[in-house]
Amino acid sequence: MPTYSVVSMKGGVGKTSVTLGLASAAWSRGDRVLVIDLDPQANATMGLRVEAPSFTVNDVLADARPGVAIDALQVSPWGEHVHVLASERALEHRNTVEGRHSSLRLRAALASLPRAYDLVVIDCPPSLGELTRNALSASDAALIVTEPGYFALRGAEQAMEAAEVIRSSTNPLMHAEAIIINKARPSVAEQRARIAELTAIYGDLVSGVIVPERNAIQQAEAAGMPIHAWESPAGAELSGVFDALYDAIMPVRLTTEVPR
Ligand SMILES: Nc1ncnc2c1ncn2[C@@H]1O[C@H](COP(=O)(O)OP(=O)(O)OP(=O)(O)O)[C@@H](O)[C@H]1O
Ligand SMILES: [Mg+2]
Repeated sequence: MPTYSVVSMKGGVGKTSVTLGLASAAWSRGDRVLVIDLDPQANATMGLRVEAPSFTVNDVLADARPGVAIDALQVSPWGEHVHVLASERALEHRNTVEGRHSSLRLRAALASLPRAYDLVVIDCPPSLGELTRNALSASDAALIVTEPGYFALRGAEQAMEAAEVIRSSTNPLMHAEAIIINKARPSVAEQRARIAELTAIYGDLVSGVIVPERNAIQQAEAAGMPIHAWESPAGAELSGVFDALYDAIMPVRLTTEVPR
């Protein structure tokens, strides 16, 4: 199961929006997706309209028995193929190291989940603490989100370094998959300079799929709707963007269709 952590040290750059956009792309094509909300702010949980469950990802991390995540799976009102490990504010308590192997608790909890998902996407908090380390330790790859601004780029660099630390310690198979530029306004010269700076440093790692700044993202999130169901020109544009991102990160799938 392709499992991606969406990370950045900087807050507000669009981690949750990219997480929800990818979940929406999966939803629109009927793929099975699991969103793991590892942010105590619980924004992804809200965007997926999952209401305060009694057993959250906080309880899952506290327990950490192999496979315990199954007990916390929620179905989003978006559709039966969209599952959620919901967050709550108390998750903040898990952002510090608790004993040896503390950052492997999520990986253990997810072990032996039925291989039922086409995509697992983990929304991380704006910190590189124990929650993000748990996410990266349980992932195949990191998606680093940034805005094309100076501070955001520094946050992206710090996330790249954190991914490297995890790769060289708990999860040698994990890699940085892409740096995704969000809230882009191509007409702004300062932004173009930042994108050029990022590309000079990271080359092809910078995704060719750039997410434009559009109010429709905020409107769909506030309504708890997938962007693919948001009927407006901007909604259609963003759907196309997240479709392209989804296609770019998904491994080539073997088709089981019999050719006609
Ligand atoms: N492409 C975009 N165009 C316009 N608004 C956007 C876009 N992407 C995100 N936003 C808005 O910017 C705000 C921050 O986005 P989001 O919550 O996804 O960031 P985040 O990185 O998850 O933040 P945090 O670090 O607090 O978790 C939200 O109100 C969101 O709706
Ligand atoms: Mg967020």
